Amino acid sequence: MQSRWSPESWRSKEIEQVPVYPDHAALQDVEQQLASFPPLVFAGEARELKAELARVAKGEAFLMQGGDCAESFAEHGADTIRDFFRVFLQMAVVLTYAGGCPVVKLGRIAGQFAKPRSSDTETQDGVTLPSYRGDIINATEFTEEARTPDPMRQLMAYRQSAATLNLLRAFAQGGYANLEHVHRWNLGFVEGSPAGHRYHELADQITGSLRFMRATGLTPENTPQLRRTNLYTSHEALLLGYEEALTRIDSTSGEWYATSGHFLWIGDRTRQPDNAHVEYMRGIRNPIGLKCGPSLKPDGLLKLIDQLNPNDEAGRLTLICRFGADEVGKHLPELLRAVKREGRTVAWVCDPMHGNTIKAGSGYKTRPFDRILSEVESFFDIHRAEGTHAGGIHVEMTGRNVTECVGGRKAITDADLSDRYHTHCDPRLNADQSLELAFIVAERLKRELEERGVKPGAPEVSLAAGE
Ligand code: PEP
Ligand code: CO
Repeated sequence: MQSRWSPESWRSKEIEQVPVYPDHAALQDVEQQLASFPPLVFAGEARELKAELARVAKGEAFLMQGGDCAESFAEHGADTIRDFFRVFLQMAVVLTYAGGCPVVKLGRIAGQFAKPRSSDTETQDGVTLPSYRGDIINATEFTEEARTPDPMRQLMAYRQSAATLNLLRAFAQGGYANLEHVHRWNLGFVEGSPAGHRYHELADQITGSLRFMRATGLTPENTPQLRRTNLYTSHEALLLGYEEALTRIDSTSGEWYATSGHFLWIGDRTRQPDNAHVEYMRGIRNPIGLKCGPSLKPDGLLKLIDQLNPNDEAGRLTLICRFGADEVGKHLPELLRAVKREGRTVAWVCDPMHGNTIKAGSGYKTRPFDRILSEVESFFDIHRAEGTHAGGIHVEMTGRNVTECVGGRKAITDADLSDRYHTHCDPRLNADQSLELAFIVAERLKRELEERGVKPGAPEVSLAAGE
């Protein structure tokens, strides 16, 4: 029997990755303020996402989850958000049209601020300071002042999330996502690249199909699916005081929902079954994710599934696998078999980023594009062999023209990394590499669906906001 859950029941458990705030009264004051602020997302939207993820679990839709490793206060501009949205839409269109599959769009955005770290402290030239834990906690500069956790940053993160979400809702529903604009989503620096060319060809085909549909009477004006889209938000639920303050009872169902984002996940470093993060996550009714890394064994996974999805609700639990290209073959099959044997319903998603991080000769942290592709390919191969569904991808990406991951058709080299290396945390795919990945995944997906005889599913369910 599990003990009674409440939004604060995590506080009596052991906890990992927790910042030490020197001013407790200030922290409490901020948490009280947050608890009085409006929710960022609504329970009904989280339920819609859960229904879409149930289709992913059944192999009828594909999840595309992506965005920054860590959002930052410094990069909170409309252009950054718009460019992310454009690339994300492009990837979704490639997967929907070329892959022939409904795509669930889930951004790592509007709340992805808190970061787990491998060490609590960092030492430079004999000086030791707390590690940077994301802009919601402290700042990157290596000074005592910057690295001291400051609760006021939680208010800034809340307000930035609200503004980001507001713009995303406007883009998703205000005409920007209209499929008749599919040509305009290409970013300038992608235009001349192989992926950019391929995208234009695909956009031509879509434009032709839309012209035909218009002639038959189906237009963006009378068919909302053609002029709007759903974009949901997600982040790692790491900073539990912030999450607790935004956990609210939904008046429709009388159940508790996290309202800081539609979908929250448990990181690979905080999934201990008896600890605070699992305790918090088991009680909220949102769809949730669990990162699965090489140290997770089948028994451990089954225990977590029992805790997090005791009623085997489809769409509730997404397992985000991040083993690394060399390790995925060793770990994934036994997890798939255990879950299948126990008849549990989950969505399986591949995060090909976090197991493939290396230090380049230049000293930069990077991820080779061919390792990323290799893990995705293995993920599909293993699911095929086990008779389970490869349900989606989870990537760290940006719409900006950064040089953080080596490789891709444009062949970013180790020497190029210093040109535009802007990430606040892990290296991200740039727009070009993201699009290239989408084309490769789309081909694979199409093959799988054709072999299984699955027809593209029903149109997307209604929109994330306001409907
Ligand atoms: C992340 O998604 O940024 C992250 C820290 O991942 P993981 O918990 O899988 O290491
Ligand atoms: Co990361």
